[in-house]
Amino acid sequence: MTTVVFDRVSKEFAQGTRAVDDLTLNVDDGEFLALVGPSGCGKSTSLRMLAGLESVTSGTIRIDDAVVNRVKPKDRDIAMVFQDFALYPHLTVRENLAFPLHLRRKPKSQIADRVRWAAEKIGILDLLDRRPATLSGGQRQRVALGRAIVREPRLFLFDEPFSNLDPMSRVTMRTELKQLHRELNTTTIHVTHDQEEAMVLGDRVAVMHRGVVHQCGSPQQIFCRPADLLVAQFVGNPPMNTLEGELVARDSQLWFHGKGGDWQVPQDCAQHLREPTGSQPVILGVRPEHVVVGKCDTGSMFEGIVESVEWLGPYSDIAIVLADRQRIYCRSHTCQVATGDKVRWSLAPHDAHFFEPNIDDHGDVTHYGRRLN
Ligand SMILES: Nc1ncnc2c1ncn2[C@@H]1O[C@H](COP(=O)(O)OP(=O)(O)O)[C@@H](O)[C@H]1O
Ligand SMILES: [Mg+2]
Repeated sequence: MTTVVFDRVSKEFAQGTRAVDDLTLNVDDGEFLALVGPSGCGKSTSLRMLAGLESVTSGTIRIDDAVVNRVKPKDRDIAMVFQDFALYPHLTVRENLAFPLHLRRKPKSQIADRVRWAAEKIGILDLLDRRPATLSGGQRQRVALGRAIVREPRLFLFDEPFSNLDPMSRVTMRTELKQLHRELNTTTIHVTHDQEEAMVLGDRVAVMHRGVVHQCGSPQQIFCRPADLLVAQFVGNPPMNTLEGELVARDSQLWFHGKGGDWQVPQDCAQHLREPTGSQPVILGVRPEHVVVGKCDTGSMFEGIVESVEWLGPYSDIAIVLADRQRIYCRSHTCQVATGDKVRWSLAPHDAHFFEPNIDDHGDVTHYGRRLN
């Protein structure tokens, strides 16, 4: 059984960079946690602190309820896999796999058994006598994975392990890693900048930005109920559309009054919002796959002109320009429109996301607004 707790952990580098800012995060026993965020947001630093490769500026890290801030890396019983494989080039695959066990002075017969077990688990039995230079990127990463599992550590840390692989191998490795986790059930933290990879792999996904975790939840929670605008726009491809406007209560109805059109907020959605006194500035978010062009059951609709239609096989991506020149995207499996068409569009009540607009010192809307509904 292995659990991990980051309790208000921060990391400041000597130059003053605050790479990780007050990180609080729990990882349950056997859980696969995906930590995702853009490059430079502090993912690697968080992992490296947990592995003991980087000191902690403040806060505590606990593994199985024991504070490990000052425990040596080799005494933490963690295996880490990096982007750049880090195999020993002069050793065969077999020797690479055996290396962590030799380090721990395991008996020879046990080493041979474990190496065979790991090689079989990850499908590299036929590569055991090869050297890394003769392997493909995918095969090398498989060996790196094998070296991580061979000694059954209590915790796996993966730092962008698939970033150097071609897209096909990346998808294959992703599926295999998920399967491996199902079999071994070892607590895992997997760092990636790829939101799709995070959503596919993670039991839970933590979205990080500038050293801060904005939300940690199941992939469904992250996608369907993003906690703020940052999460809303980071997850999903193409990103969520956002419309600036205000909420106004008029004739005992709630309206979204936007520059690109008015929308009567349906009762199902309005009940989750606090009724504004006067008007309240908000941002309405709607995912491209939830934009309904043409017929829609809800009464009020937005208008716009179709700017472009990209046919992509199973669906089309449609760009629509609204009255205020704002552009929204619609991803549709069925919609038949052409460039230049004047269209009406709307959204279902449960697909509306309302956020607080956060205004910065220059009066610009920043993308940190909290979810309101
Ligand atoms: N050893 C270091 N010294 C100074 N700054 C660092 C060091 N390592 C990372 N940083 C900085 O900390 C921030 C977070 O880096 P990192 O954790 O590597 O991000 P990520 O893995 O999410 O791309 C970045 O601004 C990076 O430049
Ligand atoms: Mg990194």
